[in-house]
Amino acid sequence: MASLSTDEAMRRAIALAARGLGTTSPNPVVGCVLLDAEGTLVGEGFHAYAGGPHAEIVALAQAGERARGGTAVVTLEPCNHTGRTGPCTQALISAGIARVVVGVPDPNPIARGGAETLRAAGVEVRTGVREQEAEAGNIAWLTSTRRGWPYVVWKYAATLDGRSAAADGTSMWITSEASRIDVHKLRGSVDAVMVGVGTVLADDARLTARNLRDGTLAIRQPLRVVVDSHGRTPADAKVRDGAARTWIATVADVGAAPDGRVDLRALLLALFERGIRSVLLEGGPRLAGAFLAAGLVDRVVGYVAPKVLGAGPAALADAGVSTMAEVIELEFVDVTRVGPDLRFTAVPRKREG
Ligand SMILES: NC(=O)c1ccc[n+]([C@@H]2O[C@H](COP(=O)([O-])OP(=O)(O)OC[C@H]3O[C@@H](n4cnc5c(N)ncnc54)[C@H](OP(=O)(O)O)[C@@H]3O)[C@@H](O)[C@H]2O)c1
Repeated sequence: MASLSTDEAMRRAIALAARGLGTTSPNPVVGCVLLDAEGTLVGEGFHAYAGGPHAEIVALAQAGERARGGTAVVTLEPCNHTGRTGPCTQALISAGIARVVVGVPDPNPIARGGAETLRAAGVEVRTGVREQEAEAGNIAWLTSTRRGWPYVVWKYAATLDGRSAAADGTSMWITSEASRIDVHKLRGSVDAVMVGVGTVLADDARLTARNLRDGTLAIRQPLRVVVDSHGRTPADAKVRDGAARTWIATVADVGAAPDGRVDLRALLLALFERGIRSVLLEGGPRLAGAFLAAGLVDRVVGYVAPKVLGAGPAALADAGVSTMAEVIELEFVDVTRVGPDLRFTAVPRKREG
């Protein structure tokens, strides 16, 4: 095999890490590429599930003796502690790795310090290689670990004029099958999907991640969370079927905000305690408005169909904005055509001061 530069190896490691999205929580996604002293790829791996081997261990097992004197290119600083598996730093040192190239430093107070341990053992360590891409690939875990509550993605579907249903309440299907397939992929990449009880009462959606063509369920299902202050979710609601775990989060469970509804910050902290690092907020308009008003949305993914309704409910209800000075500003980070629709991805602009 041709030799790789450390930059090429890091790009490959970032792509490998992405294969673990949706299955590693509460652990990060991590990819690792091992090069021998000549720069030839001799091993690679990714962290596939919590409790399973770390990316470095998978790659070292592949490389065997060929790792000696080589370079480990890892998206996240190798861990320094013994959890369900041993510390990766020790495994790299024992394998005789001469150089470690890191994308992003580990912010986890329990596991960090890997770079220092490696240096103390005489291993050359270089950090910050393709750091922005490595960070973007692991954004939910990194953000939630740094601040202590999950990363929240608000997803909605709307017509070109921003409506989520017609005036008579019919809403099937605003966006195309291609967009709905895309949403199911998104569900498969997060730890929890969340709706307000209003959406359960109106749509009775199953909220599972599945193959839309044949209906088969994805092997791993995100936790379904219904935000339901006073337990109005019907006993026969589809979210209560056994297809995935479900939490009907009430005021009695997490506490009330001053308006008597579920306290959203307390809800996110409770989810973090349960090992949830990413949440796909699927609406509806009122719950999404409350999350945006509270500054609790990290990313917006909007599927917009080339259709207009001219009347009917908007995709978003009150988000605490009554005048232009209070507008919630976002920045587009991606615009992609999905079938006949457009998928917009935007992140809130940091507020000054
Ligand atoms: N286009 C889309 O992407 C999309 C997505 C989802 C839904 N929808 C549509 O949205 C419609 C339902 O709208 P909706 O606004 O009633 O649904 P919703 O946002 O899912 O549910 C709102 C309800 O959530 C509960 N809730 C609990 N804590 C809350 C808090 N802190 N802040 C706000 N709400 C809280 C409230 O009921 P309690 O006070 O009883 O707890 C509230 O009435 C349906 O027609 C559905 O089809 C559209």
